[in-house]
Order: sequence, then C-alpha cells, then structure tokens
Amino acid sequence: MAIATAMEQDIKRVLVSEEQIREKVAELGAKISADYGDKKLLVLGVLKGSFVFMADLVRQISVPCEMEFMAVSSYHAGVKTSGVVKIIKDIDINPQDYHILIVEDILDSGLTLSYLKTMLLQRGATDIRIATLLDKPSRRKANIRADYCGFEVPDAFVVGYGLDYAEQYRSLPYVGELKPEVYEK
Ligand code: IMP
Ligand code: MG
Repeated sequence: MAIATAMEQDIKRVLVSEEQIREKVAELGAKISADYGDKKLLVLGVLKGSFVFMADLVRQISVPCEMEFMAVSSYHAGVKTSGVVKIIKDIDINPQDYHILIVEDILDSGLTLSYLKTMLLQRGATDIRIATLLDKPSRRKANIRADYCGFEVPDAFVVGYGLDYAEQYRSLPYVGELKPEVYEK
C-alpha cells in the first residue's frame, strides 16, 4: 500500500488528483515553451511550497532556461499583514535582462507575489510572469493574477504536492483538503 496512508487519514477529500496534475503540468509546460521561445528565461521557484510543481514543470519546458530559488516570509507588523516580504534566501544572480517566470504553489492573498514582482522589476528584470499550481481567487488582496494557472480551488486549507500544514503533507502526490479538526486541535 501507499506510504501516504498515515497522512491520508487527515485528508477530507482529494481536490486535484495525480492524473489531473500530470495532464495540467504538461499543458502548462507546452504553453510556456511556446510563449518564451528563445527569450532569456529564468524559472524562479518560491520555496518551499513550489518545489514539487517546479520539478515537474521544468521537465515539461522544452526551451532552455536557468533556475533559481527564493525563500521568503511575510512580515507581520502588529496584527496586520503589511504585504512586506522578508527575503530569507535571495537569488544568486543579477536578474537584469531576464524574462522571469515565478513559480508558486498557491496564489492566495497575492501579497507575496505582488511584492516579489515589484522588487524584481526594480532590479532590472525585463519581464515577470507567474505560474501557479493553485489559485484561490476569493482570497485576493493584491491586484495580481497568474499568467499560467493549474487549478482554481475553493477557500479551504489545502495540502499536498508541495503544500504544507505545519511542514507536514508536502509529499502527498495529490492536492487534498485538510480536515478542519487537524488544524483546529
Ligand atoms: P499570499 O498569496 O501572499 O497570501 O501567500 C501565499 C502563500 O500562503 C503560499 O505560497 C502558501 O505557502 C501559503 N498558503 C496559502 N493558502 C494555503 C493553503 O491552503 N495551504 C497551504 N499553504 C497555503
Ligand atoms: Mg509558499
């Protein structure tokens, strides 16, 4: 049986199956390859949540690209989310003249990506696009949208395929809704 059994007990329902993810990632990879052509492409993963999606996505991108990773955390001033993001790990190169494709696990409030986008443009990137596996449009606070989106999900807490709750469940091969009793206890 699958090694995921213990984790699966905490999943209320599967929202996006492995098969659906595989098909969608292939579709997005083909689209990205066609759109970028011979542009100087940098695929930039936002750690940690994007690592599974990014690993699968780059293997469906047939044009040359470089890869970088950033780790960020939202900075909370008092009780309010300020939208200011603290960079824990920065990219190792100068982004000037690159066409950057930011890869995210889920676009929620959009505050993180909005900040990153502005910052990378200020540093001289030619163009910034966003690829996200999941989108929760109902939660948006920043005026931002994904250029490449896998699936829209309802306003529920989801885990798997890179997404975590308290650093758990990232290794589930599908996206599932977490049982509320798991995070309410
Ligand atoms: P935001 O768009 O700036 O609010 O930040 C989105 C980030 O919040 C994502 O990269 C995730 O790390 C996290 N996040 C938001 N919703 C969920 C969820 O349902 N499950 C797991 N992580 C989530
Ligand atoms: Mg994340």
